[in-house]
Amino acid sequence: MQIAIDGPAGAGKSTIAKRLASESGYIYVDTGAMYRAMALYLIRKGISADDRAGIESACEDADISIKYIDGEQNVILNGENVNSLIRTQEVSNMASASSVNGKVREKLTALQQKLASSTDVVMDGRDIGTKVLPDAEVKIYLTASVSVRAKRRYDELKAKGEACDLKVIEEEIKERDERDMTREISPLAKAADAVEVDTSDMTIEEVLAAIKKLVDEHR
Ligand code: DC
Repeated sequence: MQIAIDGPAGAGKSTIAKRLASESGYIYVDTGAMYRAMALYLIRKGISADDRAGIESACEDADISIKYIDGEQNVILNGENVNSLIRTQEVSNMASASSVNGKVREKLTALQQKLASSTDVVMDGRDIGTKVLPDAEVKIYLTASVSVRAKRRYDELKAKGEACDLKVIEEEIKERDERDMTREISPLAKAADAVEVDTSDMTIEEVLAAIKKLVDEHR
């Protein structure tokens, strides 16, 4: 069984995918974390998002894999567990900017397809239903208004005690949406056979129930 969940930043993909996977006994694959690990590598090397040759050569040197520790996905970059380092705004923006590169996408798509080839998965990202797992049995396009997504991110950062500004977060979300949706290779898009779920006015439990219903219908 393959369940593909795509959508823009802050729509609730990872929360929903994680719960769905643990309740179904499937593996959760967070593909954004892989793009984030690649972005961290580029930041550390001082390679800018528009340095195409630099990014392509970095693809050869950055070894990215994942490992499950207590059921949680951890991303390993050249032998180092970088899970706690990839959730900053700087990494978010670099991941969005560097993921337009075809070589980066090729490398990470292959890893994602390999992971899904041997086990039941719930995989979330931007191009899972359209590109990575085009034959997934269930495809969900999870979305929410920009203001709701920005407020969720703001509350998350506040809860972690990080300084943040709602207006700035909203602008960054808009920028990422624009870049993720308009890039040339595998842009964020709803697959023709995906079901769209707008989570703006829904609780996590309501979203989960709606998706479980779709999965059960498929079974
Ligand atoms: O889901 P996320 O916010 O962790 O993803 C970070 C960035 O990685 C996102 O802005 C675009 C890129 N990404 C992608 O291009 N394709 C995916 N399947 C997942 C993420």
